[in-house]
Amino acid sequence: MDESSLTLIEKTFTFQECEDSQSLTVSIPEVLDSQYGMYVWPCAVVLSQYVWMAREELQNKTVLELGAGVSLPGVVAAKCGARVMLSDSAELPLCLRNCRRSCDANNLPGVPVLGLTWGRVSPELLSLTPLDVILGSDVFYEPEDFEDVLVTVSFLVRRNPHAQFWTTYQERSADWSIDALLHKWDLKCTNVPLEIFEANKTHLAGSTLPGNHTVQMMIITRKVF
Ligand SMILES: C[S@@+](CC[C@H](N)C(=O)[O-])C[C@H]1O[C@@H](n2cnc3c(N)ncnc32)[C@H](O)[C@@H]1O
Repeated sequence: MDESSLTLIEKTFTFQECEDSQSLTVSIPEVLDSQYGMYVWPCAVVLSQYVWMAREELQNKTVLELGAGVSLPGVVAAKCGARVMLSDSAELPLCLRNCRRSCDANNLPGVPVLGLTWGRVSPELLSLTPLDVILGSDVFYEPEDFEDVLVTVSFLVRRNPHAQFWTTYQERSADWSIDALLHKWDLKCTNVPLEIFEANKTHLAGSTLPGNHTVQMMIITRKVF
C-alpha cells in the first residue's frame, strides 16, 4: 500500500510530573484502519507514563519495544535519552512502517526498526545488542500468543540477566492468566500499582484513552534459583 492512500491522524501526548516544570510532548501518527498496530492503545499511554516517570533511570539505557505498533512508549523512552530499538512482527510490514513513521514525526532518525516475531528465534533476535529494558504495551491481548511473547522475553532475559520487561495489559477476561507460563519459562512478575506513577486517572498525558479501561502494569524478570 502506498503512503498516499493511507488516512493518517496525528495524536499529541504531553507528559508532565505533578509540581514539576519539565514536560515532554510527542506526536503519534495513527492510521485509520481496524488492524491492531495502527493506533495507540490505552495500555500504551499507561506504559508511557511509567517510562516518563523513570526517565532519569533510562538515560543511556538500551531499550527494545516489542509489538510496538505506533510505538508511543518507545518514542517517549527515546525522547527521554534512552537508546531505543522498536520492533513489531516481521510478518506485518505495515506495523513496521508505523514504527518508522512515529520516529520520523518525533525527529528520531537513528532509531532502528526491527521485524521481531514473538516466539521465533530469528537472526534479528540473535544479533541484538545487550539490553537493559524491554517494553511491551498490550502484547497480552490474544491468549494464543501469550506463550510466544514470554518465550521471546525469556530468551532476552537469559541473555541479559539484569534486564526487565516493563509491560501493561488490559483486563479483558477474568479467566486469562500468565502465571503458569511465567513459571514454565523461569520468569517472575511484580505488579506495579498505577498510583505509584500517577497513572490511576481516566485522563493521562492529555489523552482520554485510559478512560474506564482496567489497565495493569507489571515488571517481569528472570527467576533466580
Ligand atoms: C494490541 S496492539 C498494541 C500496539 C501498541 N503496543 C500499543 O499498545 O499501542 C498489538 C501489537 O502487537 C503486534 N503483534 C501481533 N502479533 C505479533 C507477533 N506474533 N509478533 C510480534 N508482534 C506482534 C501487532 O502488530 C500490534 O502492533
